[in-house]
Amino acid sequence: MMNAAYWLEWLNLLGRWVHLITGIAWIGASFYFVWLDNHLLPSKSPADIDKGVGGEVWSVHGGGFYHAQKYRVAPATLPEPLHWFKWEAYTTWLSGFFMLVLVYYLNADTYLIDPTVLALSPWQAIVIGLATMALGWLVYDALCRSPLGRDDRWLGLALLVIVTLAAWGLSHVFSGRGAFIHYGAMLGTLMVGNVFFVIIPGQRELIKAKLAGREVDPTPGLKAKQRSVHNTYFTLPVLFTMMSNHYAMVFNHAYNWLLLVLISVAGAAIRVYFVARHKGRASLFPLLSGIALLAGVAYATAPPPAPAPIATANPAAEFARVVSVVQARCASCHAAQPTQPGFAAAPKGVMLDTPARIAVQATPIYLQVQSRAMPLGNLTGMTEVERQLILDWHAARVHTQ
Ligand code: HEC
Repeated sequence: MMNAAYWLEWLNLLGRWVHLITGIAWIGASFYFVWLDNHLLPSKSPADIDKGVGGEVWSVHGGGFYHAQKYRVAPATLPEPLHWFKWEAYTTWLSGFFMLVLVYYLNADTYLIDPTVLALSPWQAIVIGLATMALGWLVYDALCRSPLGRDDRWLGLALLVIVTLAAWGLSHVFSGRGAFIHYGAMLGTLMVGNVFFVIIPGQRELIKAKLAGREVDPTPGLKAKQRSVHNTYFTLPVLFTMMSNHYAMVFNHAYNWLLLVLISVAGAAIRVYFVARHKGRASLFPLLSGIALLAGVAYATAPPPAPAPIATANPAAEFARVVSVVQARCASCHAAQPTQPGFAAAPKGVMLDTPARIAVQATPIYLQVQSRAMPLGNLTGMTEVERQLILDWHAARVHTQ
């Protein structure tokens, strides 16, 4: 029988794969329908207009012509079969939650908790994580239903304040990764909550009215539309958070919460441009400001240039010290047979167990040590002196190249 870490690694692989596939199906369909809605042209056929068709689109794809029509409210009789789009969203949430538990809750000490931020116990951290998602939904939903929810601009501003508070709060309880993933999980939960609690029930209402022969009330449709618009602008920020845990220069920055909010705003702005472009009257302003914001964030957070190193009298002795530090602090995970409990294989295939391997990986080692992404959770207790030794070693190498 193999060890548990090995099988958990397979669950991780499969869970991530499923999450990616369902996420693509969901966001792909969502992008397509936003595109469709924004490209509708009034129908030219009087017969179609009489049937209640409000707009239509012609497109060609995969070797065929497609003609989609959108009804102003609903067709006279309900067509069979009628396709719904909801399991894409639900399975994305379910697989995402599975990954959250597998990666962050089962390994809370490694990934979720950073004792230099707040010394939480795993259970405390998990409860805070779950509460963030639940509370996020309750506050957001109440806000949309409140009088503020009638004015999109005020609502948008209130949402910005709330996500900023969430980012700030999370960054003060969790590790950088943990904070970013929970911010993304919270926004993702809002998106799926919109589908589950508002958009799909609204559609059910529409169909019930239709079947009962009642006049269809447009209110649930309009509410669903508002939530669907929010989902459009949450998409890019959520996707960013889902990949952000590979970029320690962002999530481990002293102002990581601010970077998270600024990058979210940039993502939303870029989406604003694409939505407007569908409608054929796009100003470049949101796109350029989104890009400028990203560039500004990257520039403002660049590490200061390393000072010219004090020439070491004996580079060979310095390298020998680096090797012993890396072997002590990194190789318990980064070896063909890790000794760190819970690790079945060298993470990402990165092996740092021999002098030769350490020498050729100087740059990746430097990047991870500089951004404090590694040692992961500082589980191996690397000291500041040791960290500085590696930074100096790298600076000397760069200097002599
Ligand atoms: C407790 C186990 C552990 C220790 C100790 C550890 N790492 Fe890692 N390392 C990981 C894991 C897990 C990943 C994959 C992280 C991810 O998926 O984002 C990783 C990834 C990396 C990567 C690849 C980063 C990338 O995104 O491509 C490098 C380089 C690295 N570690 C260097 C180091 C160095 C240098 C040390 C010692 C200072 C170290 N690690 C200590 C677990 C560890």
